[in-house]
Amino acid sequence: MGKPSSRNEGRSKLFRQLVVDTSPLLGGFHAEVFFPFLARFGVLSKRPRRWWDELLDGLIDDHESKQKPMAAASDPKDKDEDFIHVLLSVRQEYGLTREHIKAILLDVFSGGIDTAASVLEYTVVELMQRPRVRRKLQAEVRSVVPKGQEIVSEADLNLNGMAYLRAVIKESLRLRPVTPLLAPHFSMASCSVDGFVVPAGVRVLVNVWAIGRNARYWGEDAEEFVPERFLDGGNARRASASRGTTSSSCPSAPGAGSAPG
Ligand code: HEM
Repeated sequence: MGKPSSRNEGRSKLFRQLVVDTSPLLGGFHAEVFFPFLARFGVLSKRPRRWWDELLDGLIDDHESKQKPMAAASDPKDKDEDFIHVLLSVRQEYGLTREHIKAILLDVFSGGIDTAASVLEYTVVELMQRPRVRRKLQAEVRSVVPKGQEIVSEADLNLNGMAYLRAVIKESLRLRPVTPLLAPHFSMASCSVDGFVVPAGVRVLVNVWAIGRNARYWGEDAEEFVPERFLDGGNARRASASRGTTSSSCPSAPGAGSAPG
């Protein structure tokens, strides 16, 4: 959000407060998901909605005022572009209004903050309860992290070489999906899924929590935290190989609406 200034500090504070206020509204249980007629009474209460509007309008105004000087700058250091600049630059091409841009920003902020943090929290809780898995993961991390280095960034690591870390995260996403019913979907055309007809124009909730625990697909130990199932030869790898897919779980939804994060 730019260089530190008292205005930016104020915005950062407001942003943190809004994330705290909005997360339960977006991620919690809401009767209107199951009874859509209740939506007319409003999910997002008026106050956070107005504050989000003010915050995002302010950010967009700032970016608009810097856009022209930045485009004209010859020194690449002065072309400090971020996501909002990119959205503004494609405004005409995609016919984006200010409301569209605010909606995209809110979507990315709300989708990207609590989800990743919750996955990590659940993973740490699982690791605290399972010394065998924890020790195995520690050994892998220690074998990859350069010796004596206290602060490690992603660039220092060969994440592709950390097969067990990947397996632990996948297992955590399988057993503890942060959005157990994904986001509500809306069927635009009638279709058939596994023999069940889904008519056009209905709200569809996908229970990834149940899919992730179905013993028919995951085996007798479906309720257990066993990252090895995602390693070579494990049941998740065998199942996806036999279906010809590369993905064996869907914690962030498959297909076009999948989480970009
Ligand atoms: C481990 C971390 C994450 C998990 C588990 C997760 C999970 C999800 C889920 C379940 C959905 C709903 C998909 C659907 O029902 O169709 C979603 C959508 C979305 N996520 Fe994530 N997400 C994660 C990280 C992120 C991050 C880091 C960002 C942004 C930087 C992000 C941005 C979004 C957006 C914008 C959507 C809406 C996509 C659309 O409707 O087109 N997510 N995510």
